[in-house]
This record gives sequence, C-alpha cells and structure tokens, in this order.
Amino acid sequence: MLSKIISTVYWALWVSSCAVNAAEDPLMTRALRLMSETPLIDGHNDLPWQLRKQFNNELNKVDLNTLNTTHTNIPKIKEGRLGAQFWSAYVPCDTQYKDAVRQTLEQIDVVHRMCQKYPNDFMFAATSQDIMDAFAMNKTASLIGVEGGHSIDSSLGTLRTMYQLGVRYLTLTHSCNTPWADNWRVDTGSEPSQHDGLSPFGKQLIVEMNRLGMLIDLAHVTEKVMNQVLDMSKAPVIFSHSSAVHCL
Ligand SMILES: *[C@@H]1O[C@H](CO)[C@@H](O)[C@H](O)[C@H]1NC(C)=O
Ligand SMILES: *[C@@H]1O[C@H](CO)[C@@H](O)[C@H](O)[C@H]1NC(C)=O
Ligand SMILES: [Zn+2]
Repeated sequence: MLSKIISTVYWALWVSSCAVNAAEDPLMTRALRLMSETPLIDGHNDLPWQLRKQFNNELNKVDLNTLNTTHTNIPKIKEGRLGAQFWSAYVPCDTQYKDAVRQTLEQIDVVHRMCQKYPNDFMFAATSQDIMDAFAMNKTASLIGVEGGHSIDSSLGTLRTMYQLGVRYLTLTHSCNTPWADNWRVDTGSEPSQHDGLSPFGKQLIVEMNRLGMLIDLAHVTEKVMNQVLDMSKAPVIFSHSSAVHCL
C-alpha cells in the first residue's frame, strides 16, 4: 500500500513537472539536444555595464545567483544553456576624448573578476578551444568584446594591449563617430558623415585587427563602413547584435 502511494506521488510529480517545463514539446526537446551538443554563443551582453551602473563594479555587493535587477543572472544562464558569452566592455560615447580608455579597462577588469568570483559557472576564454573546454566542463565560456571604437582613443597600441587583456572583438563604433569611422546615425541623417566610411587610419586598424586575430564587429556602423570592411577584411566579420533595423 505504501509503495502504491509513493508511486502515485511520483506519477503526480512527473505529470505536473511535464506540464510546467513542457518537456513533451518536440521543439524544446530538439533545442535542448542541440545546445547539449554545440555551445550556444551569445555575441553581446551588457551585464558588465549594469554592474558598473548599479554597483560601481563592487562585486562584493552583488550575488549573481539571486540578482534580479538585470536581464542576466546565473539561474537564467543555466536555464538558457548559455555555452559562451561575449561580455560587453562598453562605456558611453560621452567618455570619448576623455577617460574612455580607463573606463574600458575597468569594464575589462570587472569581467575578469566576475569569472574569478564564480569559478564553477564561468571560465574566462580567449580562444575557440577555450570555448570547447569550458563547454565540456558545463561552464559558460566568458569572452570580452569592446563596444565602440572610442574605447581605443585612436591608438593601435591601446588596441593591442586590450587584445593582450583578452579582448576578442571590437565594435568599430557605438552611437558616435570616432576620428576614423562613421556610426549608424549618419545613415539616419541625425549626424553628419566625417569620413565617408572609414578614414585611412580606420583602414589601417582593420589590417591590424586581422593581423592580431581580433574579430571585427560591424554592429552600430554605417552601411558604408560595413561594405568597406567586407571588401577589405581577410577574416570573417561579425554583427554581434544587429537586426534588420538599426539598433540602439
Ligand atoms: C529581488 O531580490 C531582492 C534581494 O534579494 C529581494 O528582496 C526581492 O524580493 C526580489 N524581487 C523579486 C521580484 O523577486
Ligand atoms: C555536464 O552536464 C551534463 C548534463 O547535465 C552532465 O551529464 C555531465 O556529466 C556534466 N559534465 C561535467 C564535467 O560536469
Ligand atoms: Zn549596442
């Protein structure tokens, strides 16, 4: 009798958990299978910016297991089977010509510290092999992309140093022109073109990024810049967070 009751309870739990997590949904089953075989890689996540805005990058004030004032936390990462993430080292355009480099370094630092604080959940990654190694350990491979060319202050030395710190893509602009590339707002007429695409220095930067092995991200730039880079680049480019309409 007792075993009958226990099996009934198990049956009830099984039925109710099916109803809740839609395990019977064939598309969900297929998606989960694909994500167990192949790492899902997200090209852009602004969590580091939220850490700066909400916590002044003070990670001792944050618990990513319970954080609920951001889109991202560790339970959601697990539920979404996030294999790898490019964390965005973003600082706003109003830092251009001021302290953009320092603030960007602080955003790179907070990503490294986040990986150190949660070593069971994140593994810092700088290569495709690192992504596969993290995936095999059920950790989210954590990469860095710098969002906006203003972050390098027109300096190839700064670009190379950021590469050394683990940065693996640079978005050529955010929503402002840099001294060497036009941003998407030029295409909407809300900002004048300064370079008709890329300046000669901008083209030199593309060559250097190809040489380093840093991905060129064409989110946020003008169509002219996109086309110039597609003609020039010897390596595939990415559109880290773009859509059929311009994004903010
Ligand atoms: C969000 O987290 C805070 C602190 O852990 C908690 O007090 C609050 O109830 C949570 N809010 C929601 C909507 O879960
Ligand atoms: C990773 O998770 C899967 C599915 O939950 C599990 O089967 C596997 O043993 C885990 N691997 C490691 C190294 O923890
Ligand atoms: Zn963006």
